[in-house]
Amino acid sequence: MTSAPAVGLFVVFEGGDGAGKSTQARLLVDVLRSRGHEVVLTREPGGTPAAEAIRDVVLDPRYAGLDDRAEALLFAASRGEHVASLIRPALARGAVVISDRYTDSSIAYQGIARGLGAEVVAEINLWATRGLLPDLTVVLDVDAGTGLARLESAPDRLEVEPEEFHATVVAAFRDLAAAEPERYLVLPAHDAVETIAAAVLARLDPLLPPAEPDQLSATGAGKPAVDQSREGAGSA
Ligand code: TYD
Repeated sequence: MTSAPAVGLFVVFEGGDGAGKSTQARLLVDVLRSRGHEVVLTREPGGTPAAEAIRDVVLDPRYAGLDDRAEALLFAASRGEHVASLIRPALARGAVVISDRYTDSSIAYQGIARGLGAEVVAEINLWATRGLLPDLTVVLDVDAGTGLARLESAPDRLEVEPEEFHATVVAAFRDLAAAEPERYLVLPAHDAVETIAAAVLARLDPLLPPAEPDQLSATGAGKPAVDQSREGAGSA
């Protein structure tokens, strides 16, 4: 099966828990909307009602001990639904889609840290998403201990894993980025929020699709005409 070619821009924020992804994603949304882009902010696992229902299961600490392969498949199932129902339609409209996490989280957490294997996890997710890859992935690089200490809400089923697990996740993101530098931007998460935001914008500038002037005139600068996301749902 083939899908419509993407004409928008697909940007993903990745990083260990507590890296500050959600803050950076929101800042980027604000600046792009103020320039007249249609921006869809979303997150994984989740992003659509069915995918959010899967999120509720896969992150619930009551299901401690959930089988590793079942876990990987639930993340992939959530992603497949998210891509088909929200991300591809938005890209086809020419929107900028910003997702808090995507397939690299599955490769880092399930493939590497759980030990299922990066290749098989990548393959499952390519199948689930019909091959959709981000145009740019921003990795916010945080030491595992620092990231975990920054978490404010009750830990989910992955966050309760020991610090070594999270250190493996952080190293996996670094390795993924190092292997394909043209598709990644790695930034130290301890830099000032504004410094990180400026670096992200500078890298994205040449990649952005044309802004839509009617987005500005119809809604007022800085306000979206379309917003299908569950904004502010993530904390890190
Ligand atoms: P996230 O929403 O970033 O956590 P929070 O907003 O609560 O900080 O991600 C939820 C958790 O799910 C996080 O610990 C990473 C994990 N995760 C995976 O293990 N695999 C995946 O494919 C995804 C998307 C997330």
